[in-house]
Amino acid sequence: MTNHRIALIPGDGIGPEVLPAARRVLDRLGPRHGFSLSYTSYDDWSCERHLREGAMMPADGLDQLRDKDAILLGAVGHPGVPDHVSLWGLLIPIRRGFRQYVNLRPIRVFDGVESPVRGARPGEVDLVVVRENVEGEYSQSGGRLHSGSPEEMAVQEAVFTRTGVTRVLDYAFRLAARRGGRLTSATKSNGIVHTMPFWDELVAARAARFPGVDWDQEHIDALAAKFVLDPAGFDVVVASNLFGDILSDLAAAVAGSIGIAPAANLNPEREFPSMFEPVHGSAPDIAGQGVANPIGAIWSAALMLDHLGHPAAAKDVTDAIATVLAKTDVRTRDLGGTATTADFTETLLGLL
Ligand code: NAI
Ligand code: MG
Repeated sequence: MTNHRIALIPGDGIGPEVLPAARRVLDRLGPRHGFSLSYTSYDDWSCERHLREGAMMPADGLDQLRDKDAILLGAVGHPGVPDHVSLWGLLIPIRRGFRQYVNLRPIRVFDGVESPVRGARPGEVDLVVVRENVEGEYSQSGGRLHSGSPEEMAVQEAVFTRTGVTRVLDYAFRLAARRGGRLTSATKSNGIVHTMPFWDELVAARAARFPGVDWDQEHIDALAAKFVLDPAGFDVVVASNLFGDILSDLAAAVAGSIGIAPAANLNPEREFPSMFEPVHGSAPDIAGQGVANPIGAIWSAALMLDHLGHPAAAKDVTDAIATVLAKTDVRTRDLGGTATTADFTETLLGLL
């Protein structure tokens, strides 16, 4: 039986509430699908640790994770610690240090979930945002000058490399070829006149290698509007780091709640562990109440199983999520229900 070594990083807020739900689901599936999981839990890697010791994780944090097969993360963020500190102290070092250059964010409108968007009917909206995850607009290049004076200024540079853009585009084209054969590239080459025309040129160049994929490009502003007006019209959407971040939150809202959406941070070459985490953050407004929606974390665990070579187990999980939503009225508060995290998890486990 294959054993997979999993690092668990619950993090802050609702992270430690939703991650155990995902673990219970994983443990249920192993015996049936012929794999086992052994866990190492890094409960202390959080904003609390930052407040106490001045760092989100130990200096050798990445080395502790390096020999794992995958990382499952809850969320980080705490009102007492600036968001850029928690993000750049844990998530971004892992994404960059382990070359997780693909951020994969599938979105579905499930039967039984009412989308706030009238035209988003269940079964019709089923798309994937492929977000570039290690470069682009989220860069450390830049700085501030003349602090506090009227001349104060801030410069933030976006970094797009031929290698970095090409590899994420190739991933997206390959994914589109396996799925519906359609790809949309998010751009803004009318306003951002250096990096975005470069991105567009590379899209056109790579497209030539995937003749079976029907592709187009849309400016990000128009694309955001279309995500609301016609979300069923998309299959695979590839975007830079910033555009993909925003589009995938928007798409998660179209799907009914940000609490549903999963994400995979992939190192497709498997030189390093990949990391799986719900799209949502630590939700301090509901933390500690046991009412967080665990679907995002559980679906993220399914993406992890797929990556580890267990697609049938992954499908069992997404089928069970779909069944709970379609056939029962068990829902957490964000979806208009009264179920707790534990109630939802129990109901789902009952179907596995
Ligand atoms: P958030 O996703 O934590 O919360 C936004 C809204 O959605 C809140 O009203 C929250 O209650 C609700 N929500 C989120 N997840 C939910 C769930 N599973 N079930 C039910 N409701 C849910 O985003 P926000 O408020 O912008 O950020 C809060 C903290 O989380 C910040 O410190 C931020 O930096 C951090 N954050 C961390 C992320 C990560 O770890 N990957 C991603 C996004 C934000
Ligand atoms: Mg986001």
